Amino acid sequence: MANSSPAFPLASGMEVLFSKVQIAGRVQEIGAEISADYAGKSVVLIGVLKGAAIFLSDLARAIEIDNTFDFVAVSSYGRATMSSGAVRLIKDIDEPIEGKHVILVEDILDTGLTLSYLRGMMLQHKPASLKIATCLDKPGRRLVPIDADYVGFQIPNQFVIGYGMDYAEHYRNLSDIRLFPEDAAGH
Ligand code: IMP
Ligand code: MG
Repeated sequence: MANSSPAFPLASGMEVLFSKVQIAGRVQEIGAEISADYAGKSVVLIGVLKGAAIFLSDLARAIEIDNTFDFVAVSSYGRATMSSGAVRLIKDIDEPIEGKHVILVEDILDTGLTLSYLRGMMLQHKPASLKIATCLDKPGRRLVPIDADYVGFQIPNQFVIGYGMDYAEHYRNLSDIRLFPEDAAGH
């Protein structure tokens, strides 16, 4: 079609919110913080697929203490039912976490519905402790009260892509976190 913009415009034209170098620096800081907080212990990192996979892979390597990781996958029932907090588990953890120190790892904490659901589920498994690490936090969007213990960066209510975060499954591979232009979003 003539004059129509591509569905997934090139990311190189989008504003960089956090560069690869900034992200790497912040991940090292959080890794050091976790290593100190859990000194002498082991932690289990549980990443929320797919968005957190990239943050988790960097974070796990920035943590110096013994750690293992696992993944869960969820799907929300869509925008119309979002306020009900309806989140469905698609993939559960592979290894038991009872008595273990668990850190849930997310790409972005937005309304909080996903992490409140997952936190409730994980607590039923009786871990020794449960904390939350998120690469990004949009505190202004919260529908349920939940805070992360480790936050990479706080951002205002803007749609971002890259470093695991997607727009319609695209752009997860970008090394930088960029602002997705509102006019292309339709969300
Ligand atoms: P919530 O906290 O339950 O609303 O959901 C958080 C999830 O929404 C994240 O794991 C992302 O998958 C998605 N999400 C929220 N904001 C953004 C964004 O700006 N870019 C990409 N994904 C987002
Ligand atoms: Mg997502």
